Amino acid sequence: MNGVVPLRHFAARGISNHTPRAVHLSYKIAAVGKAETHVKKPGSATDPLWYKDAIIYELHVRAFQDSNGDGIGDFPGLIARLDYLQDLGVTCLWLLPFFPSPLRDDGYDIADYTGVHPSYGTIDDFKRFLAAAHQRNMQVLIELVINHTSDQHPWFKAARLAPPGSPERDFYVWSPTDQTYKDAPIIFRDTEKSNWTWDDTAKAYYWHRFFSHQPDLNFDNPAVMEEVLKAMRFWLDLGVDAFRLDAIPYLVERDGTSCESLPETHAIIRRIRATIDAEYTNRFILAEANQWPDKVRPYFGDGDECHMCFHFPLMPRIYMALRQEDRLPITDIMAQTPALPDTCQWGLFLRNHDELTLEMVSDDERDYMYFAYSADPRMRINSGIRRRLAPLLDNNRHRIELLNSLLFSFPGTPILYYGDEIGMGDNIYLGDRNGVRTPMQWNSDRNAGFSTAVPERLYFPVIMDPIWGYQAINVESELADPSSLLHWTRNMVALRKLFHVFGRGTLEFLNPENRKVLAYLRRYEDPATSTSEVVLCVANLSRFAQPVSLDLAQFAGRTPVEMLGYVPFPAITAQPYPLTLAPYSFFWLELQQPAAPDNFSESSDVFP
Ligand code: NOJ
Ligand code: CA
Repeated sequence: MNGVVPLRHFAARGISNHTPRAVHLSYKIAAVGKAETHVKKPGSATDPLWYKDAIIYELHVRAFQDSNGDGIGDFPGLIARLDYLQDLGVTCLWLLPFFPSPLRDDGYDIADYTGVHPSYGTIDDFKRFLAAAHQRNMQVLIELVINHTSDQHPWFKAARLAPPGSPERDFYVWSPTDQTYKDAPIIFRDTEKSNWTWDDTAKAYYWHRFFSHQPDLNFDNPAVMEEVLKAMRFWLDLGVDAFRLDAIPYLVERDGTSCESLPETHAIIRRIRATIDAEYTNRFILAEANQWPDKVRPYFGDGDECHMCFHFPLMPRIYMALRQEDRLPITDIMAQTPALPDTCQWGLFLRNHDELTLEMVSDDERDYMYFAYSADPRMRINSGIRRRLAPLLDNNRHRIELLNSLLFSFPGTPILYYGDEIGMGDNIYLGDRNGVRTPMQWNSDRNAGFSTAVPERLYFPVIMDPIWGYQAINVESELADPSSLLHWTRNMVALRKLFHVFGRGTLEFLNPENRKVLAYLRRYEDPATSTSEVVLCVANLSRFAQPVSLDLAQFAGRTPVEMLGYVPFPAITAQPYPLTLAPYSFFWLELQQPAAPDNFSESSDVFP
């Protein structure tokens, strides 16, 4: 079958496709200065750095599969779809918020930190899901949304009624005036005019960095920190493997500052991390800090804050480089990306549940992106573009593959957004960012196989137009089509998992004259096996074929082996190495030392 990772690849690397069932280990650590020992609670992964090799799949329980016909996805439905995710090969499931909530911000408005929204199931359903995911060697990443709660959270209801200065009132940030913290920008500027809202019951203003129904918690109150740690332990004790720290720069406010990334906020993150390190093993935390690379760097601390942070500014620049057919936006932002402590990692993504944010670009670049990627003003929201991957790329399969090749080969952990693996479309007529949150398209049956409810009852309509509709784009038909995007994605995931170099290696750009070509080396020396991996990636950002000549003299004598087909290319010499690339095409070439001849023999073995 074409485009399938040759089985020989796996055998040559001594790796089986599925990692063995995670073994639960517990071990003891000596408490400082005491003979006493604590038993740390193990996670489901065995390697403490597992997140570096992970392939994360982001999904909303509500959008994935409805099991009881009420039009809303739920945990039993998700459990029923885990085989699909295992077959796709992803290793970590990121669940968007599934907690009790009035759902005015798709669940980022939490009304109870330790429950499950009744539409999605019960806590026992969650436990069943977690066990079933772990059984399939998939870790689980959930949301820790601690900057704010819903205004329906019991803490806020009590705070409004409590007298000023009381412990209950002190859970949130109040002020008699809306004139403080004026230097903090408004994030949801399409809906909010101020970060302060007057509360008639409390007779005071309360602070909120997002919607006015999302009051910010007051981290100057130690009781808030204790409650947050309690909620965190609740999920870690159940066996959750990781947290995404939502909106983490905004925890603490100080007048005369932008109220972002303050030292007090970093102290809170260190406390969270220290708690996890002291009580649990093999978990990780991922920071959502939408900032320039040098401003994100402090969120890793000295390896004592977050294990992972999203690389926000890289994402729009990938789209920009593609449209401009010029590698500069990518090489430029990577040149500004600082080195990380050994245990840290970037989280990479092409799209997610939010708008394609344009906060981390210049004004000119933002204008360009709006012009290039959002012809209809309905595609815009706040400072960004609310569209999915395939529509952004005009449903051009070559462009989709090219961008995924960057996602899978850049230094960091790749994050796929549900539905993008089948090229799902969006619905720009839905409000907020809901157009990219429609039901997963499983087959061409009623409601795309997502739900048996009457269509009117679905939480959002399925996509129905002739190009993007579920009759045209769905999992079932893509599984039946060996040339589908789904099969291609599955194959790339399997291939990437064979090489530690992508998750752990260094990055070095080559500088060929032709700027339409992006060429980079990934290198990794595996301390455990003393083996070295060197991979050359070459990507043609142009809609036309391009020649390129690469200086590979340092690798003279090595043979580039094209990794998708395991095809040897001519050996490298001291002379410039010429390659010709088809429009929007890419090569991943493993630069092999003169190797066992067996590696190059014809093979019809395929990965089943
Ligand atoms: C970040 C989330 O990604 C976004 O969806 C949400 O609206 C804001 N936090 C506010 O909760
Ligand atoms: Ca349901």
